[in-house]
Amino acid sequence: MSNINRRQWLQKSAFTASLLALGCRTNFEAAAKPFQNGFIQTTPLPLHWNENPFGPSPKAVQAVAEVMAKANRYPDDMVADLKSILAKKYAVDDSQVLLTNGSTEILGLVGQQIGFDKGELVIPFPSFPTMAMFAAGSGATIKKVPLDKNNGIDLDQTLAAISDKTKVVFICNPNNPTSTEVDNGALKAFCRAVPKNVLVFVDEAYIEFSKLGAAGSMIPLVNELSNLMVCRTFSKAYGLAGLRLGYAIASKAHIDTLKGKYVGAEFATGWPALVAAKATMEDTAFIANCIQKNQEGRDIVYRAFDKWGVGYSASSTNFLYVESKHFVSDVRDKLKAKNILITKWPDMVDHIRISISEPAHMTQFVEVVEEFLVG
Ligand SMILES: Cc1ncc(COP(=O)(O)O)c(C=O)c1O
Repeated sequence: MSNINRRQWLQKSAFTASLLALGCRTNFEAAAKPFQNGFIQTTPLPLHWNENPFGPSPKAVQAVAEVMAKANRYPDDMVADLKSILAKKYAVDDSQVLLTNGSTEILGLVGQQIGFDKGELVIPFPSFPTMAMFAAGSGATIKKVPLDKNNGIDLDQTLAAISDKTKVVFICNPNNPTSTEVDNGALKAFCRAVPKNVLVFVDEAYIEFSKLGAAGSMIPLVNELSNLMVCRTFSKAYGLAGLRLGYAIASKAHIDTLKGKYVGAEFATGWPALVAAKATMEDTAFIANCIQKNQEGRDIVYRAFDKWGVGYSASSTNFLYVESKHFVSDVRDKLKAKNILITKWPDMVDHIRISISEPAHMTQFVEVVEEFLVG
């Protein structure tokens, strides 16, 4: 080995090793220091974006490190490969899969199209707002359907809200920000009942955390219902939020329409996201462990809230929807001052949303938030 080659080899090995090390340790180790005695940690504890605190899978990290040697080549074969893997998994044709740079892109594309068609979007409220934002921004009418008294999506009211102007009905299941899920059979019946000229769009970003897990997906209905589109993401249970990869599954006709409007045309994503997604799909133990640990973290907060009488919705996700009246009104800012980030959208009038992180972090969160209880 010549000197220059040895140096290059060492650099490459060090790079790979450091990536692998990153993947094997938790992302927010600094946050694991105690909060007690007024200690304010220096690394923010991000309980605001529903990310996977355990990811990425070490196998994904390794795949990304190795694929860098191919970075001079366009990833079209890998796009085809991943589409084919997904198509096989869900028993659809490759032409029924669209890969995007995060599922946000799909929500934006579909939302804009509603506006261009001067149509109406029916959406339970509050729910994940991206599609409604893009639809409203391009001229669509947004019809919001209130949730039921348990912060669940009211499928009957949502169905009743569909009018002759409706182009799309959006169902986020489990729902963000409320963390609730609808009954599997009821959602299937709903999908079948929606008129065929209206697209049923089911956003399953958190499906892996639901009661039935990914088995509760609506994807198996796609071949039966030409007006059904399901979108999924690698950002949550798969731990790849920073690499940006999502996908839609629908009839070929709907996928072709989306592709026709999509500037990225499936090349908005690249090798790292594609190989990391493939490696994580193969790492089923990693996914199962993340889901298990999420439950542990969730139970720590449940126990504290039950003890304090704080109301929350039973969560089918990696976050909690919590009544804010039990805390000081500026609890989000107070937590931020302690370097703990939580969410409060304007739509969440009397609730806050708290993402679940590692169990140790949730124990710390409980210690800190107790300070801001009222009553
Ligand atoms: C319900 C839901 N859908 C879609 C997304 C977008 O995810 P991404 O663009 O990372 O795939 C999110 C992100 O938080 C979400 O909560």
